[in-house]
Amino acid sequence: MTRQQAVMHTAMTISSKPAWAGDDWLSRGVNLLIRTKPLYALMKRQARQVLIKTAEKKGIPWRESAAALAESGIQTRLAALTNPAVEYPDYYRVPFHAYAEGNLCWQAAFEAESATYSMALRVWPQEDLTWEAAQARLRGSFHEALAAHGPVTVRNILDVGCSVGISTRSLHQFYQHRQETAVSTIGLDLSPYMLAVAEYRDRDRTIAEWRHARAESTGFEAESFDLVTLQFVTHELPRTAAIAIFQEAWRILRPGGAIAITDNNPQSTVIQNLPPVLFTLMKSTEPWSDDYYTFNLEAALMQVGFGTPITTETDPRHRAIIAHKAVSTANA
Ligand SMILES: C[S@@+](CC[C@H](N)C(=O)[O-])C[C@H]1O[C@@H](n2cnc3c(N)ncnc32)[C@H](O)[C@@H]1O
Repeated sequence: MTRQQAVMHTAMTISSKPAWAGDDWLSRGVNLLIRTKPLYALMKRQARQVLIKTAEKKGIPWRESAAALAESGIQTRLAALTNPAVEYPDYYRVPFHAYAEGNLCWQAAFEAESATYSMALRVWPQEDLTWEAAQARLRGSFHEALAAHGPVTVRNILDVGCSVGISTRSLHQFYQHRQETAVSTIGLDLSPYMLAVAEYRDRDRTIAEWRHARAESTGFEAESFDLVTLQFVTHELPRTAAIAIFQEAWRILRPGGAIAITDNNPQSTVIQNLPPVLFTLMKSTEPWSDDYYTFNLEAALMQVGFGTPITTETDPRHRAIIAHKAVSTANA
């Protein structure tokens, strides 16, 4: 790391991070545990069993839905959806969410919907919500933040890290109902497996394109979007990648447009006080956690040229961060 990079790194590090992330003794202890291979393998297996059983008890048809997708024949769409020019960065080729091949396999793609629905249910454990209601509430609170702080009129949207398209379709619908002018939405992801599921679920072809690309180099022309979103993506990125993606978002946004991020809130009481079993599991299945939970996203956004970001708590675990590209970029 050069001196300049080191200064930038420090400036973008938050102080109020959870004790289990970063360089504290607790964090180092957890990391050591995770690196102990037999223990890690056991933890991963057990976590997966618990995740599936809990989801199914709450009515999410985890195994049934994965089996139906496996039978659907969408595997034949892989070649057509794959952009052969895409090079996968090293940080993406590591095991993720207990899948040895990370996001680059069918199992991850077939289970992504159920995992997304389960994630929303975990936000309100005390309330007896259905998974459909929890999902609607999770998305709704991000949309409310966008309504309050996002661009007034949105002609086109890029949903970065769209995965199987749940975030993309829901965002598209929100803007379609909110404004009289038409909106065109594109979902972009680095996993063609995820995109195959996204395309399959988008039966009415409401989404303009499902694009296979690195978010760091989308291939879109400069100043071609009003809104770029990253929903639950940043916690899966090392900070160097997050910064590169913010730079690309700034390039492809029109002046007056905005980047909107929603993800775990490191400052929230729930995240700060996660029980040891949960934060150990989280760190063991999400390899860039230490980077994310110590990273000052707002400082990084300003560093690449965005105006002062507005951060709001959207629910007990998550936040939204919205930052605009100045209308006149001459002095930005
Ligand atoms: C947790 S999922 C996001 C889920 C979805 N946005 C939602 O809210 O339901 C994170 C996604 O980001 C994608 N991703 C990670 N790094 C990426 C990159 N550099 N470029 C494009 N997509 C990336 C992964 O493939 C994965 O599908």
